[in-house]
Amino acid sequence: MTKPAILVFAGSIRTGSINEKLAVNAAAAIADAGGDVSHISLSDYPLPIYNGDLEDAEGVPENGKKLAERFVASQGIFIAAPEYNGGITPLLKNTIDWVSRPKSTEHRPGPYKGRVFAIGGASNGGFGGYRGLLQLRHTLENALGTLMVPEMISVPGANQAFDEAGKLTAERPAGLLKTVAERLVAMAKTFGS
Ligand SMILES: Cc1cc2nc3c(=O)[nH]c(=O)nc-3n(C[C@H](O)[C@H](O)[C@H](O)COP(=O)(O)O)c2cc1C
Repeated sequence: MTKPAILVFAGSIRTGSINEKLAVNAAAAIADAGGDVSHISLSDYPLPIYNGDLEDAEGVPENGKKLAERFVASQGIFIAAPEYNGGITPLLKNTIDWVSRPKSTEHRPGPYKGRVFAIGGASNGGFGGYRGLLQLRHTLENALGTLMVPEMISVPGANQAFDEAGKLTAERPAGLLKTVAERLVAMAKTFGS
């Protein structure tokens, strides 16, 4: 495999999202590191709040299946995740849950196993969304069985971490982003299927 396919998205669809800014920077860093990047927005895959009755009646929604296929078509996935009340945001958790349903794709072992994940978060607060990243990591790694890049990027004080053009200029997270991007591409090449 020459260039591994890497999917990038943010767990926010808010206009002016700082995590979307992080996702843009991650997409560029991953491309620089040799990844074949597809940067998507969850706003293009709206999904209802998960409800088992809805799934029983109608199955996994088309957008859940489309997203699952995008996961399957990727060797690596980068998620820029905001933190709400110390945890995963409802948009991101709902997306992860729908994609995890067995009928989201015919592909076995499904959309999570066999893909390498890397995660980061940005927040105006001092923790940079790190508590949310720990929850997200737990879900992806321990519950869904993905292989993960060990390092995670958090961008604290995000209102001052990006320049006017949206480039991540804060030194420490920018350095970490490069490391994570290189690691994601290398691991996706070796372990991604
Ligand atoms: C319900 C709610 C809870 C929040 N909880 C946290 C929090 O625990 N930690 C934190 O750093 N920021 C928290 N925030 C602030 C978000 O980090 C901030 O809104 C951020 O801009 C969201 O990311 P986005 O810009 O990518 O949408 C919270 C925001 C909302 C709406």
